Amino acid sequence: MKLASDPALAPATDVIGAGVGPDDENVAPAGRWPHRHLLDVDVLSLDDLELVMRTTDTMVEVLARPIPKVPALRGWGVTNLFYEASTRTRVSFEVAAKNLSADVVNVTASASSVTKGESLIDTVRTLEALGARVIVIRHATSGAPYLAAEHFGGSVLNAGDGAHAHPTQALLDLYTMRAHLPGGAVAGRKVVILGDVLHSRVARSNLWSLTAAGAHVWVCGPATLLRGFDAWSAAGVGGSRRFTVTSDLEAALRDADVVMALRIQRERMQSGLLPSLREYAARFGLTRERLALARPEALVMHPGPMNEGVEIAPDVAAGSQSLITDQVANGVAVRMAILYLLAGARA
Ligand code: NCD
Repeated sequence: MKLASDPALAPATDVIGAGVGPDDENVAPAGRWPHRHLLDVDVLSLDDLELVMRTTDTMVEVLARPIPKVPALRGWGVTNLFYEASTRTRVSFEVAAKNLSADVVNVTASASSVTKGESLIDTVRTLEALGARVIVIRHATSGAPYLAAEHFGGSVLNAGDGAHAHPTQALLDLYTMRAHLPGGAVAGRKVVILGDVLHSRVARSNLWSLTAAGAHVWVCGPATLLRGFDAWSAAGVGGSRRFTVTSDLEAALRDADVVMALRIQRERMQSGLLPSLREYAARFGLTRERLALARPEALVMHPGPMNEGVEIAPDVAAGSQSLITDQVANGVAVRMAILYLLAGARA
């Protein structure tokens, strides 16, 4: 597929009225993309990951244009169905879909018929009857997007389900690392995921994609927030890929190439896992002094939302090594790429 020459990615002004969109035969479909849904990164092959990265490059180029809008998804109904609070992920999906000229509808579960007892299955069927061809879903229950996919005729995109998966976050993290690591590859790099790993769908999806890409991943935090991860590493991610689990912060940070801090997810936490946020900050917070253990040019990341002064010090979050705003910006490009690939696979 010659992505850059796809007429559906030409500036919108060039093709308005030209009838170009994924349904038109003159548009090269995203040929090698075999997936109808994106529920997690665990189904993505290395070729799939490469295709997402290359498609994201094209979307970054689209975003740099004076009018960052292309007609690739014109006429496509994309519904954001969010059962959980979100700022960046929801807005990012909305901006991404609008940049592709999709017809975007936002449903916030707390203001929908869900509050009247409507089931997820009924909601999904209703949205399909109302024209949705892609549903982007965030849900507090692990597995909810899989149930939605069973009852929806279009594509389901998981925007985070419980503590299970957050595939587009892992993809934007991979893209951001590759864009900033010397040599542009994560293979052989030491990547530390630090904090509330237990409750983190971001950590789980990143463990899949980063180990697949050959990174040496370390997860670090209080032992209570690492429960079960030893067993997963022993079993091997995908049956064979190991990672390191430790509460030894100094060992984790030493010579790290990337440090990704995670929010303490109080809303998912049972009592007794953590004495207090103050103690967590004192023992595991990413401060400038601790970051000095990592490589001098180590990249600092955080999926957001941040609790500055808890898992990350404000001066580290805003420091010269921080890629936190790059992650947010790349999130739009990665989500445009995924929407484009899903639509192309079904066109
Ligand atoms: C994360 C999430 O919701 O999974 N944020 C995000 O999507 N960028 C992490 C979190 O809530 O801490």
